[in-house]
Amino acid sequence: MTARILVTGGAGQLATALVRARGDAVVRVGRPAFDFDQPETIAAVVAQVRPALVINAAAWTAVDAAEAEPEAAARANHSGPGLLAVACRKAGAGLIHVSTDYVFDGLKGAPYTEVDPTSPTGVYGATKLAGEQAVLAAHPGAVILRTSWVYATAGKNFVLTMLNAARRAPRLRVVADQIGCPTNADDLAAAALAVADRMLAGGAAYGGIYHAAGYGQTSWHGLATAIFEEAGQWGWNQPPVDPIATADWPTPARRPPDSRLDCGKLADVFGVRLPQWRRSLAEAVAAICRDADLPRKAAG
Ligand SMILES: NC(=O)c1ccc[n+]([C@@H]2O[C@H](COP(=O)([O-])OP(=O)(O)OC[C@H]3O[C@@H](n4cnc5c(N)ncnc54)[C@H](OP(=O)(O)O)[C@@H]3O)[C@@H](O)[C@H]2O)c1
Repeated sequence: MTARILVTGGAGQLATALVRARGDAVVRVGRPAFDFDQPETIAAVVAQVRPALVINAAAWTAVDAAEAEPEAAARANHSGPGLLAVACRKAGAGLIHVSTDYVFDGLKGAPYTEVDPTSPTGVYGATKLAGEQAVLAAHPGAVILRTSWVYATAGKNFVLTMLNAARRAPRLRVVADQIGCPTNADDLAAAALAVADRMLAGGAAYGGIYHAAGYGQTSWHGLATAIFEEAGQWGWNQPPVDPIATADWPTPARRPPDSRLDCGKLADVFGVRLPQWRRSLAEAVAAICRDADLPRKAAG
């Protein structure tokens, strides 16, 4: 079997969006065939598929659970991607590896560029940072795309969590003192594929780190409010959303208070800029509301 682009990450948000965007032109693999917990599967899949380029969308993404299971998180986010980079390098395949805004502590007070110092606040961010380093050490031509606050019309994400919560609760409380850049998985997939196409066209060395997130910024509270404004247009429940402080919503993992990403390098080098987050959110919420068979209003 031959293919230009191999996508890891099974039924994850980004992997699914990549397949939606390119269909049969990509080969998607997931567990158990490709499993960072079974390291022998990594090189075996690369050898079998013989891709020209791999987009690694597989990761341990459960930020809080990573605190209790650092070894498993490290296998998926650090050592596994490192082995994948070795396999790609040996096979002469390009590699796009996806990372996170949580490599930063969120204390800069301005959008982060790729040269800003990293300082993760939890296990998830630390393992993703170690993964970036392992990938670039093994395969200097690899491109790291750091993204943030990813959502899609299916999967585990904040948008669906909010819409589901609104069916049960008459009023919600959402953290207002963490800001970032919400990113629609379809926009991230389009950006990754544009980068992939450029890498496959050759002619230049692109290896290194790039930030790739939705344009603009908001808080989790701002995002929740926007979700319900959009859903309201489809006749869905619009519960009041009370702004609260991070301290009022304790979680196992500490999160960066301001992890906005400056995506200027991606625009400069690849001519790629992700759309304004609010516009992409409207499209996603519309798709969810159109297709859902959920009751539109909370009972009672
Ligand atoms: N989601 C976000 O808010 C966010 C924010 C910043 C950066 N990112 C990064 O963006 C990328 C894509 O994230 P996403 O939102 O698409 O994540 P996702 O929906 O959670 O999907 C991740 C996929 O990785 C797979 N996976 C987990 N552990 C694995 C392992 N040990 N071996 C092989 N596959 C494994 C999962 O497979 P199963 O289905 O078998 O569990 C899942 O399909 C990741 O690199 C993530 O770190 C995400």
